[in-house]
Amino acid sequence: MTDAYSPAGFEVTLSKRWYVKNGYTFDAYTKDGGYEALKQVLKLTPAEVIETVKKANLRGRGGAGFAAGMKWSFVPKESAKPKYLVVNADESEPGTYKDRYVLARDPHSMLEGAAIAAYAIGAHQIYIYARGEFGLPYRRLEAAIREAYAKGVFGDSCFGSGYKLDCQPHRGAGAYICGEETALLESLEGKIGRPRLKPPFPAVVGAFGGPTIINNVETLACVPLIFSRGVEWFLKMGSPNNGGPKLICISGHIARPGVYEVPNGYPCNKLLALAGGVWQGRTLKAVIPGGSSTPVLVPKPCKALAKPDAPEAEWPLETDVCLDFDNLKAAGSMFGSAGMMVLDDHTCMVRSLLTLANFYAHESCGQCTPCREGTSWVARILKRIEAGQGTEADLDTLAGAAKHMSGTTICPLADALAMPVESYLRKFKDEFVAHVRDKRCSYETYELSPAHNTFWEDTPE
Ligand SMILES: Cc1cc2nc3c(=O)[nH]c(=O)nc-3n(C[C@H](O)[C@H](O)[C@H](O)COP(=O)(O)O)c2cc1C
Ligand code: SF4
Repeated sequence: MTDAYSPAGFEVTLSKRWYVKNGYTFDAYTKDGGYEALKQVLKLTPAEVIETVKKANLRGRGGAGFAAGMKWSFVPKESAKPKYLVVNADESEPGTYKDRYVLARDPHSMLEGAAIAAYAIGAHQIYIYARGEFGLPYRRLEAAIREAYAKGVFGDSCFGSGYKLDCQPHRGAGAYICGEETALLESLEGKIGRPRLKPPFPAVVGAFGGPTIINNVETLACVPLIFSRGVEWFLKMGSPNNGGPKLICISGHIARPGVYEVPNGYPCNKLLALAGGVWQGRTLKAVIPGGSSTPVLVPKPCKALAKPDAPEAEWPLETDVCLDFDNLKAAGSMFGSAGMMVLDDHTCMVRSLLTLANFYAHESCGQCTPCREGTSWVARILKRIEAGQGTEADLDTLAGAAKHMSGTTICPLADALAMPVESYLRKFKDEFVAHVRDKRCSYETYELSPAHNTFWEDTPE
């Protein structure tokens, strides 16, 4: 059944136990060789472990794509304060729903990766910060931690090695911003979840003032594979500079939404076909490749993806991009958290952007003026345009707001809205202009939901 969510002939590893009865238990995991990688790692020095992860080109799966081994190497070897490994299981980026599968269906893969990471950086305490709304994923996580204590993974001596390792899950309260690593640390410490100014970076001053590595759930679930299958296997499983298999969530106007496991660098158009293509036989209008904050891609020829001397007729479409951090950057977008959203030709792009803007305006923590004011301005202007009450000046204001929100704030939440605004305006300008000119939306087939109609109603201009 896993075949339905992976290319034919591809050996799934990350999702191998997802569709197996009781696949989330310690027994199912160890039957497949689980925790052997940790036992092997405990015989290596921490420096050797970090070097191996560096060689495997494991890039962080939480959004930024930062090299995991490199990040671990930033932790000072000597520290007066305890070191911590924190797992980011907040998973709130719209379109992203892979980590909850790992937690609910194969939590031990992440726990083993977390144990390996903790050993590599010299941490004796693991915290797992989980999204507040998680039900089943959190219960399965708690049960897996209990099993891991009972089986000697956690406790005073990890698998008899003498290495003390403890693990504590922690539930958030439902704030998107608490997925940002420093807001997460604030929240973990019992404060309001607001991002910290950097530097210092968490690897030096993190949780409770101690050196801290924060990694995403999927990043850590990949780590045991590097040791159990080997660096060569891991590199072959991905594309240059992007090692390992990848989980991609597809949602929106696609025939078969779901979490797919593919090799890193898998072509986008092949993935769309694997997921049954655009639903109801409609035409593809756009793809948001990596979660709601990533610039939108359109099925139009893209010079940056073509061979240097290729004539225009041979340029691939933007949506023909191979899905990894480097190729998506070349295409003018980002892989982010791999939450791919498909939009068909019945979609009003103004409304689509309004939905994103409402989300970011709601989730801004309010510390920075360009974010606090900018996100709600953008939402209000878009609402006006969508309702057929916008002016040409509004389009300029939108573009200007996005510009002033970029790179001017404590954390990238403001950029997370500025990037879609910029790309929607550049690629779908005609739709915005038509809304202003015709004083209406020409996409007859939808109605604004009550939430859209009322969200900003009581917010003064
Ligand atoms: C607004 C915002 C929300 C974020 N939400 C998440 C999240 O839910 N899960 C996650 O793993 N990373 C999230 N990140 C990225 C984290 O800050 C951090 O880069 C990541 O957890 C590092 O793990 P990685 O190196 O394994 O990717 C978010 C970043 C920002 C700016
Ligand atoms: S950019 Fe927005 S969410 Fe991030 S710290 Fe500033 S106000 Fe808060």
